[in-house]
Amino acid sequence: MKKLLIITAFGIFAYACGGEEKPAAENSAENTSTKPGGDDPAYDAKRGAGKFKDVQVSPQLNAALADKGTKVYDVKCASCHKVTTERLVGPGWAGVTQRRTADWILNFITNTEEMLAKDPEAQAQLEICLVRMPNQNLTDDEALSVYEFMRKNDGVK
Ligand code: HEC
Repeated sequence: MKKLLIITAFGIFAYACGGEEKPAAENSAENTSTKPGGDDPAYDAKRGAGKFKDVQVSPQLNAALADKGTKVYDVKCASCHKVTTERLVGPGWAGVTQRRTADWILNFITNTEEMLAKDPEAQAQLEICLVRMPNQNLTDDEALSVYEFMRKNDGVK
């Protein structure tokens, strides 16, 4: 019986995340207490934490790479992310490559736990979604391809 209750509660949370954006005020009180970087004063909020640094992004799309990324998306990401602005379990991806730097996205998707521990933006998303994104164990190649897929989705040609 207890188990059932927990499942029901989770269902409600997941549902709450599927709808409209919540008004910012609902989340702001907790967000202001977030210390960027946690205990790490050198934390770079534009870059995030992880192995990717100063990744150079070509103005042109690498179409073959983006196609690979489509497959990664279908298998590992589509259950939680739409490619529109609409939230599913996690935020919709439309515009994500404009909101975040390449380094941030690549670090977030390959080093999710540390980023959730340190990054104020990731923590803000967590407060809205109430679900921690599980580390998807992407290889670097998979991460770069899914990033290229995001760029394609954001209109890079
Ligand atoms: C089980 C659900 C789930 C899966 C699967 C998932 N994510 Fe997420 N993702 C989330 C949630 C929830 C958030 C926001 C909360 C957080 O930061 O944990 C998020 C946040 C993100 C963000 C930050 C978006 C922003 O606007 O800040 C990116 C980028 C991202 N995910 C990429 C990916 C990629 C790439 C994959 C597939 C390889 C993936 N996610 C698979 C749930 C998921």
